[in-house]
Amino acid sequence: MKIGLTFDLKTDWPCGADDPHDANAEFDAPATVDMLERAIASGGHTVERIGNVRQLIPRLDSLDVDIVFNVCEGRSGRNRESQVPVLLEMYGIPYVGADALTLGLTLDKVMAKKVFLGEGIRTPRFYQTDDPATADELNTMEYPLIVKTRHEGSSKGLDGGSRVENAAQLQDRVRHITGRYHQPALVEEYVSGKEFTVAVLGNRQPLAMPVVQISIEGKVDFEREIYTHALICSTALKYICPPAIPAEQVREIQDMAVRVFRAVDCRDMARIDFRMDAAGRPYVLEINPLPTLDETDVFHIFPKIFGLDFNGTINIILNLALSRYRLIELDEKDILRPFLTETAV
Ligand SMILES: Nc1ncnc2c1ncn2[C@@H]1O[C@H](COP(=O)(O)OP(=O)(O)OP(=O)(O)O)[C@@H](O)[C@H]1O
Ligand SMILES: [Mg+2]
Repeated sequence: MKIGLTFDLKTDWPCGADDPHDANAEFDAPATVDMLERAIASGGHTVERIGNVRQLIPRLDSLDVDIVFNVCEGRSGRNRESQVPVLLEMYGIPYVGADALTLGLTLDKVMAKKVFLGEGIRTPRFYQTDDPATADELNTMEYPLIVKTRHEGSSKGLDGGSRVENAAQLQDRVRHITGRYHQPALVEEYVSGKEFTVAVLGNRQPLAMPVVQISIEGKVDFEREIYTHALICSTALKYICPPAIPAEQVREIQDMAVRVFRAVDCRDMARIDFRMDAAGRPYVLEINPLPTLDETDVFHIFPKIFGLDFNGTINIILNLALSRYRLIELDEKDILRPFLTETAV
C-alpha cells in the first residue's frame, strides 16, 4: 500500500529568542522520521513523505495515499495535535491513531483528568490556576505539589523546581508556567514512589503491553526525581521490563491503562504514564495517544519481550488502523496475536 507520513521536524519550527529552551522538544529529529519510514517500508509498503500541516494543506486535493501515518505534534495551542487529523477527516483520508477530539482532550491534562475522574480512574488530585498571587489560596492539598503545564508534553516546563514545598515556591512556579509557556498551570499532589509507563494497542479489544518501570540513577523509589526530557537523553534513565513488582500490581496497572484508553476513545496505540504511591496504589498521570517513537522510548523496549522489534510493532499498529477502516481483511485479534504469548527475553 501507499502510506503517507506526516511529521514535524525540529528544524521546521526553530526556537525563537523569547521561547523557552524546550519549545521544540516535541518535534522529531530527522533520524526518528527516517526510522519510521524504514519501519513502514519493511512491511512492504511505499512511503510518501508529506511533512507538517502546512506542507499537507496544498496537497490535500490530490493526495494519492491509502492511509496516513501521522506523528504531527503541531506548533502551538491545545488543538495543535488535532490539526492534521481534522484535515484528513475533512478530506476522507484514513489515518493511523487517535482522532482530533481525543488528541485535543488528552493534550489538555485538566480536561483529561476530568474524564478520568468521571470514569472512577485514580489520578492525582489537582487544580488549575493562571494567577500566581492566589495560587496558594486555592490549594486544599498537602505539600509537596508538582506544577506542570496544562497542555504540553515531552516534559516541557518540568525540571528540578517543578516539585514545590511551600506557598512561595508554588507562586514562583505558577509564574514560570504562565509567563514562559503562556497557559494555565496544572497543580497536582506529588506522588512519591515508583513510576511506570505502558503502551496499549488495539481498538475493540485494546491490549495492554508489558509494563515498563522507570529507573533514575539506579533508583526506582522516587522521592524528588522527575522524569524529564533531559533525562530521557541521558544515561541516568533506565527502563526495566518486565518490572520488579508483584504480578497483581502489574495487572492493576494494565487494567487501568486499558480503562484510560477506552475512556478517551483512543485508537490503534497510546502510552499511559503512572506513579505508584508507597501503599502500592497506581495513579494515572496522563495518556499519550501520540507517543514518541524515538529510539530511546518504550516502543523499542516492550516488543523485545515477545521477540519482536520496532519495525514489526509499527506494522502491527499500521495494520490495526488499516483493519479499522476495513482496508485489509485481517481482524484485530489476528493482528495482535504476536503480543498474546510472551517468549523468554
Ligand atoms: N503528580 C505527580 N507526582 C509525581 N511526579 C509527577 C507527577 N506528575 C508528573 N510527575 C513527574 O513528571 C513527569 C512528566 O509528567 P507528565 O507525564 O504529566 O508530563 P509530560 O510532559 O506530558 O510527559 P511526557 O514526557 O511523557 O510527554 C512524570 O513522568 C513524573 O516523573
Ligand atoms: Mg508523561
